[in-house]
Amino acid sequence: MQEMSRRNQHFTDSVIRRMTRVSLDCGAINLAQGFPDFDPPKAMTDRLREVSQEGPHQYPITMGAPNFRRAVSRKCGRFMGISIDPDTNIVVTIGSTEAMVDTIFALTNPGDKIVMFSPYFENYRAQAIMADCEPVFVPLVPPSFHFDPEVLEDAFRQHPKAILICNPSNPSGKVFTYEELKFISELCIKYDVYAIMDEVYEHIVYDGRQMVYMASLPGMWERTVSCSSLSKTYSITGWRLGYAIAPQPIMDRIKQYHDFNTVGAASPLMEAAVVGLEMPDEYYREFGDHYAHMKQIFTGGMKELGIPFTDPEGTYFVLADVAPYMKKGQSDVEFCVEMAQKVGVACVPGSSFFDEDVNHIVRLHFAKKDETLLAALDRLSNLRRIMCG
Ligand SMILES: Cc1ncc(COP(=O)(O)O)c(C=O)c1O
Repeated sequence: MQEMSRRNQHFTDSVIRRMTRVSLDCGAINLAQGFPDFDPPKAMTDRLREVSQEGPHQYPITMGAPNFRRAVSRKCGRFMGISIDPDTNIVVTIGSTEAMVDTIFALTNPGDKIVMFSPYFENYRAQAIMADCEPVFVPLVPPSFHFDPEVLEDAFRQHPKAILICNPSNPSGKVFTYEELKFISELCIKYDVYAIMDEVYEHIVYDGRQMVYMASLPGMWERTVSCSSLSKTYSITGWRLGYAIAPQPIMDRIKQYHDFNTVGAASPLMEAAVVGLEMPDEYYREFGDHYAHMKQIFTGGMKELGIPFTDPEGTYFVLADVAPYMKKGQSDVEFCVEMAQKVGVACVPGSSFFDEDVNHIVRLHFAKKDETLLAALDRLSNLRRIMCG
């Protein structure tokens, strides 16, 4: 038999999604893969019921249903403070995941470098490697997850094609400030580098912090692709609806990858999701308040239990330090599997996110009903007894 592709021989499956399977197998509470266990907005599920009768049920226009794109342009234009043409600046994708892949393929050539911060969302490294690109990691230094401007500029001096930024950031919970993004934007312009933004947590920021969109900064619209999705904002991770927003010359190239890879996003789901995109500002305020409430329950409980963790500025993740609970020589992957099986709470080993050699951090998420979070905290109260016993 001939040799199969060399591209993906050095990475495994997604450890995040593997932990969901482990969790299902042993009946653990899944705080590993980030998805809610509460319902999407009722207006959207009601509309989905209607659409199941009325249609559409056939192929969509490849770049996304026109009414969906118009709704994205209105919603995003409002929050980003820029004017977005639904015909030339938007493509609707299978989640932000596809938007990111299409963008990486559209902007890079084999051998190109892509700067990314570490810790990083697990998908990025795999996506870069699938496009034959080389990730160049710049550390975000805990606990505040700031970056060293000199280290970042050194990465730009290596002639990367793009910088890929998750803002708000999974798994660190960092929300990049205006000053940080301004500094990065100046490097992008100085070194002629594209910015690929993953902004799926744009509406989950805490304590009055401001979400700043890279595409809205001076000189950045021309070189920025803003990827986001409906997964998190409307609690519909299974609908797989996302989009990329970019200036036309870049968008034309992104659309080609989308067209030939997927044909398009699901027609009935786009139709049903339009009511979500048309929600008033009040929806986003209540959504933010709900996340602040879940964060308070979970992080308050973690504090009481004495489990050390980093308090997120945005997103719904905490990084916990489990060094005190690990056996000598145990890997973080082994620890997480044992914890799911014996403690009954699934989390993600930190080694999936860090370029640095990190073996004592795990990621947990709190996008769950109050009763689920309280049950998880109750189980976590046995962490030391079970894991160190
Ligand atoms: C940073 C980040 N980007 C993208 C995704 C996936 O988004 P989507 O469901 O839109 O593909 C996730 C999901 O957890 C994520 O955390």
